Amino acid sequence: MDARLEAIASLVEAGSELIDIGSDHGFLPLFLLESGVVSHVSVSDIGEGPLLNAKKTLEGKYADFYLADGLPKQGLFDSAVIAGMGGHTIAGIIEKDRKRFAQMRYVIVQPMQHLRELREYLLRHGFRVIKERLVFEAHYYVIMKVVPGEDTPYDLDLGKDFSQDKALYEKYLDWHKKRILSFLEHLEGERALEMAELLERIDQRLQDMI
Ligand SMILES: C[S@@+](CC[C@H](N)C(=O)[O-])C[C@H]1O[C@@H](n2cnc3c(N)ncnc32)[C@H](O)[C@@H]1O
Repeated sequence: MDARLEAIASLVEAGSELIDIGSDHGFLPLFLLESGVVSHVSVSDIGEGPLLNAKKTLEGKYADFYLADGLPKQGLFDSAVIAGMGGHTIAGIIEKDRKRFAQMRYVIVQPMQHLRELREYLLRHGFRVIKERLVFEAHYYVIMKVVPGEDTPYDLDLGKDFSQDKALYEKYLDWHKKRILSFLEHLEGERALEMAELLERIDQRLQDMI
């Protein structure tokens, strides 16, 4: 299993009645079962092919499979993982069944892009970020564990607390800064101002970490 999935697995609580939404290959559920973190797992995917992949991986294991767009209608889950999709897709999956997600103990999300938009959605719709993890594996991946409840406003671009991954977070901020600088001169108006402000906040974070 790769470092991204390992980091996601590290946030799963022992004994959870977990559903891995958009599981595809089923590697995460397999790891959770084999390591004894959970004794049973539910797996869903919107695609028949990906669900078949998961079924093959989890053959003979104590797992339930659902062909579903987001959270399946049937089944009882106290926690969910939604990983490896765009931030808008993840927000859409939560929004479609917000009441049920709001009754879960926790949800772990890992967007491939539109991280800011997902954070904004979570903040506005009553999901509090309690843990963040950063992983680098050719790309930077941010993983968030959220619970139902009001959150205090935080920096939607830079996140809350990566003190556990401090050295990597420093590199991430540096990478972020270089990326913005590479296109800043092509921006105009409001967007240019926004990016200039973000650069200042990145510098401030880097300073605070010294
Ligand atoms: C890139 S794979 C990620 C697999 C795994 N979760 C991971 O993080 O490695 C994305 C999967 O999400 C599934 N997917 C996309 N939208 C979905 C939705 N609305 N509901 C359920 N599954 C979805 C896709 O079919 C695909 O198998």
